[in-house]
Amino acid sequence: MASHVTAVFLAFFFVFSGSVAAIENFDYYYFVLMWPGSYCKQSSAGCCLPKTGKPELDFFVKGLFPYSTDGTALIDCNKSPFYTNEISDLESELLKYWPNIKCPSSEGKYLWRNTWNAYGVCSGLSEHDYFNKALELREKIDLLSIFNKNGIVSTDYADYSLANVKKAILGGIGASAAIRCSKNQWDESQVYEIYLCVDKDAKTIIDCPVLPVSNCDPRVVFGSFTYDMLKNVTSLTANPIRMRAMNSM
Ligand SMILES: *[C@@H]1O[C@H](CO)[C@@H](O)[C@H](O)[C@H]1NC(C)=O
Repeated sequence: MASHVTAVFLAFFFVFSGSVAAIENFDYYYFVLMWPGSYCKQSSAGCCLPKTGKPELDFFVKGLFPYSTDGTALIDCNKSPFYTNEISDLESELLKYWPNIKCPSSEGKYLWRNTWNAYGVCSGLSEHDYFNKALELREKIDLLSIFNKNGIVSTDYADYSLANVKKAILGGIGASAAIRCSKNQWDESQVYEIYLCVDKDAKTIIDCPVLPVSNCDPRVVFGSFTYDMLKNVTSLTANPIRMRAMNSM
């Protein structure tokens, strides 16, 4: 009898621990911030005002991505549905710092749902913790202040040495970061995404076990981000100027 109970217990234990291990089978997070000014300038589509209103003029959160030391991302784990009401207390902060500025004008919740489905469920965190930890990291890091304190201000009339941008991050955060660049419409290398590494506690910033390869030029642009860049386009066909231009071709 006793051994029977033990066997059942062990069976449950293995099933349970097996599923937990599958979920948390990663070594660290990449916490990725993105500069919306660069997003707006990297394609002719530009960027759009979220349907929910104006975000902050600051770095946005792109996500908290579980990675393993061999450099692979943990994605598309078990399906765990996304419920907007689980993060309703975080919504005002998410709209400021994790908005959807893709065109046409959209709502952040689609972006949050996609990020949760692809990466959040792999973290082993609850939905609320996943978004809350990411917002807390953004606030703690306050990357724009670090940039500004080091004389790296967003402007369309200057460029910066990539080495100095990296030095500013290292000095301000105490850990190295990887910078990913994109090209603006004038073919200049612009600061687009900042990758920082975070321990599995989703809180402690660590030196990256593996840094993503930087694709930036030695000199980079950190262009402006202003509200007039956010177009209010509620549907793709609602732009009469573009329609006329296409018809006359
Ligand atoms: C954006 O456009 C929609 C539809 O035309 C309008 O209802 C809304 O007030 C506009 N938002 C702003 C901030 O101008």
